[in-house]
Amino acid sequence: MADNIKTIGVLTSGGDAPGMNAAIRAVVRQAIARGKKVKGIRRGYAGLLSGDIIDMNAHSVSDIIQKGGTILQTARCLEMLDPEYQEKAANMCKEHGIDGLVVIGGDGSFKGAQKISHFGINTIGLPGTIDLDIACTEYTIGFDTAVNTAMEAIDKVRDTSTSHERCSIIEVMGRGAGYIALWCGIANGAEDVLLPERYDFDEQKLVNHIIDGRKRGKQHHIIINAEGIGHSSSMAKRIEAATGVETRATILGHMQRGGSPTCKDRVYASTMGALAVDLLCEGKTNRVVGYKNGQFVDFDIDEALAMHKDVDEYQFAICNSLSNDYQH
Ligand code: ADP
Ligand code: F6P
Repeated sequence: MADNIKTIGVLTSGGDAPGMNAAIRAVVRQAIARGKKVKGIRRGYAGLLSGDIIDMNAHSVSDIIQKGGTILQTARCLEMLDPEYQEKAANMCKEHGIDGLVVIGGDGSFKGAQKISHFGINTIGLPGTIDLDIACTEYTIGFDTAVNTAMEAIDKVRDTSTSHERCSIIEVMGRGAGYIALWCGIANGAEDVLLPERYDFDEQKLVNHIIDGRKRGKQHHIIINAEGIGHSSSMAKRIEAATGVETRATILGHMQRGGSPTCKDRVYASTMGALAVDLLCEGKTNRVVGYKNGQFVDFDIDEALAMHKDVDEYQFAICNSLSNDYQH
């Protein structure tokens, strides 16, 4: 199809993620390299609906590749669930001359892009979330930084846990998904990892595991609990009462969403941002960029949203087997 895109808009939506700035920078610079105008839409779909739209040039994205957060700000905007506002969002694009729109966010944000494309605006989604919970892709912008941040924090908790011979329950983010918990489980060598996708709510098993470890002389017991299970503080109280081992809960929270992006997040987000512009220039719409089998690829948004994924069974199995220091 002919390259008839003149102006590309870019917005970030949903929870922010480190690397979003690298993606914005790539969209802006690649668009300019291809002779397009660029507009930045502030505060996600909320900013699109209210017309909070700014002109961007190559200089607007200087000195941001290394920064966490998103310079365009982000928001959750419930009005976008209403077809009347979805049409209004498309009309706002038209009013501002935006004929191609890049949406950086998660599945919810892609649904917004899908609806806007139905009203004649070409849209491309980029997977931006620390949760890694987008089915069509093995990589999401921000996961690598977030999981490294969580890993470093858990190492620190482990130091004090060992000094005090305590059990520590550390809650990591991920909404309903356990990818951050699973990766930290392996990277931190946690004794137990509780994933929403796998947890059987058998607390007695955890209690027995802690007591067995104590008998073998273990000085700490790290339980990584995914946010999707939650209730870490009450769990800590019950475990302390049942084991007699002092137990503390630490909820890592939003610190996992901040910080300077890792090299991987900068490079992958930059590649995806540039690819989004190339796809728009090829006349593509209602697509989402993903990373599969070592390649950057794109999928129809409807198909991408219908896909499912689960934590890797082998990774889950080794997460448990490798943390076992019991000598037969
Ligand atoms: P994420 O994009 O990280 O999954 P949310 O699920 O909160 O985060 O979605 C972000 C925003 O995307 C919402 O606040 C809303 O503006 C828009 N959105 C979510 N679901 C839909 C939908 N079904 N239709 C249109 N827009 C949606
Ligand atoms: O989707 C990213 C995420 O950080 C989830 O891990 C978490 O459940 C959610 O966003 C928190 O959202 P908020 O910042 O709106 O509390």
